[in-house]
Amino acid sequence: MSDSNVFITDTPGVWLNQFLQQKRYSSLTVVVDDHTATHCYPLIRAALPLHHIIQLPAGEEFKNLATCTLIWQKLTDRHIDRHGLVIVLGGGVLGDMAGFCAATYKRGIDFLLVPTTLLAQADASVGGKLGIDFNHFKNHIGVFHLPVATLVSPLFLKTLPVSELRSGFAEVVKHCLLDGPEAWQSVTAQTLAEQNWATWVAHSVALKENITRQDPTEKGLRKVLNLGHTIGHAVETASLESEHRLLHGEAIAVGLMAEAFLSTQKGWLPESSLQEITHYLTATFGTPGQTLSGRAVLANARQDKKNKSNRILVVLLRDIGKPEWDVEVSEKELEASWQYYQSL
Ligand SMILES: NC(=O)c1ccc[n+]([C@@H]2O[C@H](COP(=O)([O-])OP(=O)(O)OC[C@H]3O[C@@H](n4cnc5c(N)ncnc54)[C@H](O)[C@@H]3O)[C@@H](O)[C@H]2O)c1
Ligand SMILES: [Zn+2]
Repeated sequence: MSDSNVFITDTPGVWLNQFLQQKRYSSLTVVVDDHTATHCYPLIRAALPLHHIIQLPAGEEFKNLATCTLIWQKLTDRHIDRHGLVIVLGGGVLGDMAGFCAATYKRGIDFLLVPTTLLAQADASVGGKLGIDFNHFKNHIGVFHLPVATLVSPLFLKTLPVSELRSGFAEVVKHCLLDGPEAWQSVTAQTLAEQNWATWVAHSVALKENITRQDPTEKGLRKVLNLGHTIGHAVETASLESEHRLLHGEAIAVGLMAEAFLSTQKGWLPESSLQEITHYLTATFGTPGQTLSGRAVLANARQDKKNKSNRILVVLLRDIGKPEWDVEVSEKELEASWQYYQSL
């Protein structure tokens, strides 16, 4: 894609070297977390000229204002001026947070995203959403701001724990359901372990770029990217209060199954497609969160950010590749979808 600023390469060091030679940055700061410092930084270190490092603890619980203060403080202590570059080497947590810090430091300095998880490569790498959590509210404070470029390399995925890989895979599957039968058949022909990540990350990036270019601020079309996310978020939130916290993608897999059921109930998605979806997703993810209380899940779905004047709005599929957004569903329908999921 000619106007894309996402670059996919097997040799991130070579790419970085060339990129930095073309630009004249006054300084270079690499932001890592404790895991990407060990697993990812060694893969690019030799390609970088003299640089600063900011190392942060890993995990969503650090995606907050206190960590931002730390980042802004370090940039200030090192006298980073407005012509410096920040390289964010990490998953979606770091990308959202350090990107936000760069986008606001001295009213914004350049940053380069180098996503190192499948979730961050296939989803968070596109669309310019940056931000942090605030108290209990996820992604509550933030901005839309694009990085100078995004450098994606499947090389980083080699050290990713399989649970994290699977979690990111839910977004890849979602993108295939949004795209159409060809992508869907192709992705479901293989197991998680057999997938070619370079292919699927490229597919996800192209699909998400195409959508966000048409609707950058989520007025309409971009909402289709929330497929699986109304029920998925409700399940994710309910799991936070249970003994078994679900990863984001696990909850989204549940959401995809329940929302596929709703699509079939509307008389849209054929029953055979629903079967295919639940078959592939249960084979890949199992049935996480099945024992969560339906009441808790439904209460969360009612609170969803995407709802409007008390109506519960979801993205449903008229068919594979034919999503429709802002479809209203009743509490009864939601309840039935949860019962369906529990019966799998
Ligand atoms: N901006 C967007 O459009 C967007 C889209 C989706 C999700 N998100 C955000 O992304 C975040 C979740 O991202 P995530 O799943 O990448 O979580 P994460 O950044 O916490 O990474 C998951 C774990 O993997 C570790 N890790 C990262 N890369 C590794 C590697 N190559 N090898 C070994 N370990 C590695 C991390 O240190 C962390 O422990 C959420 O905060 C979510 O809100 C943003
Ligand atoms: Zn998601």
